[in-house]
Amino acid sequence: MKERFLVTGGARLQGSVRVDGAKNSVLKLMAAALLAEGTTTLNNCPEILDVPLMKDVLEGLGCTVAIDGQTVTIDTPAELSSHADFDAVRQFRASVCVLGPLTARCGEAIVALPGGDAIGSRPLDMHQSGLEKLGATTHIEHGAVVARAEKLVGADIKLDFPSVGATENILTAAVMAEGSTTLDNAAREPEIIDLCNMLNSMGAKISGAGTSTLVIEGVDHLEPTTHTVVGDRIVAGTWAYAAAVTQGDIVVGGIQPRYLHLALEKLKSAGAEVETYDLGFRVRMDHRPRAVDYQTLPFPGFPTDLQPMAIGISAIANGTSVITENVFESRFRFVDEMLRLGADANVDGHHVVIHGKEQLSSTDVWASDIRAGAGLVLAGLVSDGVTTVHDVHHIDRGYPHFVEKLNSLGAAVERVQE
Ligand code: UD1
Repeated sequence: MKERFLVTGGARLQGSVRVDGAKNSVLKLMAAALLAEGTTTLNNCPEILDVPLMKDVLEGLGCTVAIDGQTVTIDTPAELSSHADFDAVRQFRASVCVLGPLTARCGEAIVALPGGDAIGSRPLDMHQSGLEKLGATTHIEHGAVVARAEKLVGADIKLDFPSVGATENILTAAVMAEGSTTLDNAAREPEIIDLCNMLNSMGAKISGAGTSTLVIEGVDHLEPTTHTVVGDRIVAGTWAYAAAVTQGDIVVGGIQPRYLHLALEKLKSAGAEVETYDLGFRVRMDHRPRAVDYQTLPFPGFPTDLQPMAIGISAIANGTSVITENVFESRFRFVDEMLRLGADANVDGHHVVIHGKEQLSSTDVWASDIRAGAGLVLAGLVSDGVTTVHDVHHIDRGYPHFVEKLNSLGAAVERVQE
């Protein structure tokens, strides 16, 4: 059943909220459980739609998976199927992260090409060439990526771009390769650090997590583990921008503020007061935000997943902002929905120029991906009247209990059936 959110504009969000584990980590950690026979336990898992979808993928491969609130338990058998079929993986992009673990465990992986967000073409060339450097053959056949390797052997690999997904698949294949692998220009995202920490607790030998060079000494065997998922910096960043756009005051817990350093610095430039704690931060804004320029880049740059929030704040800021998208080419589709809300924005290639207005004007808008959906909710909070956000199943893929949390901060948002 399709649902929509009715967002009443005008509230000043105030209070405190805690973020759960990161969507972009938990799904990869669930896939990493394929590497060890036995029971892996993950704590602090977010209650989002993608977790049961990943459960289906793993069960299709032979695992038994239980979800109990924020705890996910994965029983991995000695023999796995190497074939992740289309029905299971087509619904979300992160399913491709079973490619590395399956190649390492089974010597073969056949993974249907995933669906996911409509934010760009998202090829797998770097995933494939990385696995090939480790000794696998790969090709695309009947809508699936196929990787085969009699054995994986460590290699020196340099990525053309610090792709998050390619780094993860190469890591999870190289941990059980013979000999040593050096991965240069690796992604440095906190979710990669989280994956390395879990793999090391399983017995892997990875050094350099959080830097551009990962060194992986292959081991024969990994043991299952218990691991707590790192906090979701994108959800935390969404709350930070919600505080700023509504001229509110929100304390966010469950996240290391250094993982959001640039996003919080930008809010300071916009005029917010930001305090940071060991595992949280507070954002206060008591006037209309000033216009700031943004440029999305791989971590530690400004996250592309917060680009809709940057557009949202710019739409009501005092002055003109230029936002440059460097990671996903189609992400500005979201701007069309912002125009419907009355934003004054012009897209030119991978730049958008926005002249801020005092207020947006409510209407019906459609979420095209997770983050665009959350960005539209923020825009609705600063529109006059009631904004209807359709296709909110996208938002439910990434934001646990979003409506309840918004309302606990003083917003008036209602979930209704289409
Ligand atoms: C992950 C996140 C996503 C986030 C993105 C960048 C998950 C499930 N998703 O996506 O939320 O926005 O990181 O921080 O964790 N590319 C290629 N060839 C490849 C691989 C990637 O050209 O083989 C390109 C992509 O099309 C894109 C860019 O590299 O333009 C970045 O992609 P990547 O870092 O791989 O993002 P994902 O892992 O797909």
